[in-house]
Amino acid sequence: MTLKACIFDLDGVIVDTARYHFLAWKRLAGQLNIEFSEKDNERLKGVSRMDSLEIILELGHLYPDKRKKEEYAALKNKWYVEYICSMTPEEILPGSIEFINEIRNAGIRTAIGSASKNTPLILSRTGIEKLFDAVADGNVVKKAKPDPEVFLAAAGMLNVKPDQCVVFEDAIAGVQAALNAGMMCVGIGSREILSKAHFVVAGLHEMSMEKLQKIRK
Ligand code: BG6
Ligand code: MG
Repeated sequence: MTLKACIFDLDGVIVDTARYHFLAWKRLAGQLNIEFSEKDNERLKGVSRMDSLEIILELGHLYPDKRKKEEYAALKNKWYVEYICSMTPEEILPGSIEFINEIRNAGIRTAIGSASKNTPLILSRTGIEKLFDAVADGNVVKKAKPDPEVFLAAAGMLNVKPDQCVVFEDAIAGVQAALNAGMMCVGIGSREILSKAHFVVAGLHEMSMEKLQKIRK
């Protein structure tokens, strides 16, 4: 099957927003007297907002009701949005724009496949909306990764079949979601952590059209 599309996770693949998520969750954890470290933050990568909150509350052995949880999640998001509102194009991870332009010039279609409801804001703050033919994000899907819904939605928007897509992901749950969608997956990060991916690179700066074609063989 020929390669027709590349689907990119956003946080941790194209922009490094993990530190903003960390700062906002840390602030909430502080208010609730919960110890929350950068190591704990690793567990939140690729995980939805409400599931992330559950992990933090569990660390503090707190079990509030649904209304309180929604209040906490909204507070965290308010702080997170304040951070990302001051993002600039300089925060786009190295090599991302070059690689995406290269594949687009070669006729490959591109989409975002992200759990984040803040995807439109991040894309506009960093000025990269035009690099993508479609955006599937937390605003259009119900089920969180490792469910394949977000990647299947992206493929649907691009009108391509799952086996014509390659996904770029930095989270274990995201790699699993790509595999569950029947797509090839390039892991962004460590080979040990993303061992299920078909191929792993440190970042998009290590990617090229030539490498992409080799991966597909
Ligand atoms: C993912 C991040 O991309 O989006 C997670 O890796 C985050 O850390 C999730 O929780 C949801 O993001 P948001 O912006 O909708 O809270
Ligand atoms: Mg990610």
